[in-house]
Amino acid sequence: MMRQVSVLNFVSSAEGLPTKILVELERILESAIEDDSFIGEACMPLLKGGKRLRPILFLLCSRAGGADRHEKLLPLAAAIELIHTASLVHDDILDASKVRRGVSTANAKYGAQAAVLIGDYLFAKAFQFVAEGNYGDEAAAILSRLVRDLCIGEIKQDRSLFVIPTLAEYYERITLKTAIFLSSSCRLGALTAGLDRATVEAMTGYGMSLGLAFQITDDLLDFFGDEKLTGKRLGGDLKSGVITLPILRALDS
Ligand code: FPP
Ligand code: MG
Repeated sequence: MMRQVSVLNFVSSAEGLPTKILVELERILESAIEDDSFIGEACMPLLKGGKRLRPILFLLCSRAGGADRHEKLLPLAAAIELIHTASLVHDDILDASKVRRGVSTANAKYGAQAAVLIGDYLFAKAFQFVAEGNYGDEAAAILSRLVRDLCIGEIKQDRSLFVIPTLAEYYERITLKTAIFLSSSCRLGALTAGLDRATVEAMTGYGMSLGLAFQITDDLLDFFGDEKLTGKRLGGDLKSGVITLPILRALDS
């Protein structure tokens, strides 16, 4: 856990995002679930518990490039967090998880049918923010490809449950399901700041490496974490047949 906390401390303090920006991000996220009272009630506890790693990376990369149009960029930051939350709601159905971010998952509380719709709603709302924000074709394409890759990563994982992957297959899976999300967040930040191509690529690569480290840490925490800190049940991966790096390393030795 210490390692994960230190990554997050680094991210949130690196360039010192002003508190008012993060407060405004929370306000936009809350506004996203106000359209329907059931959605609001169901989504509030899920949205509250997130670390905001992806939107913070996006905002930090855009700030590093000198972008200071936060009113313009915040709906895109919120869209990134909404896509992430939607993917977790659907992931918890696939994994039959009961606890997420320290609270009951949507599927545990309302059943899988309602949880599918809650995830779909959050996903649709994210793309509403993107469409209304006029961020350009490249931003929309990055987000569309990201969701495609998330789905391919999950499908690959689902099709190989209880099968021991090669190291290359493991890295492909965590690239698709996690690292591309962090690298896309950094890339969007660099692009919206109008940075040159070399810097855009460097920030994209940084997000990719951070994403791989993040998912490997998450996989380790599934065995050795503290449930009170992770907000998830231990041993979930192995129980559902997802073989991760700690098992590959154990088999090697
Ligand atoms: C968590 O992985 C889940 C993901 C990283 C991605 C899930 C993606 C989908 C379900 C497809 C995309 C769907 C939408 C609506 C965008 P994990 O199970 O390893 O981590 P965990 O321990 O936190 O559950
Ligand atoms: Mg899961």
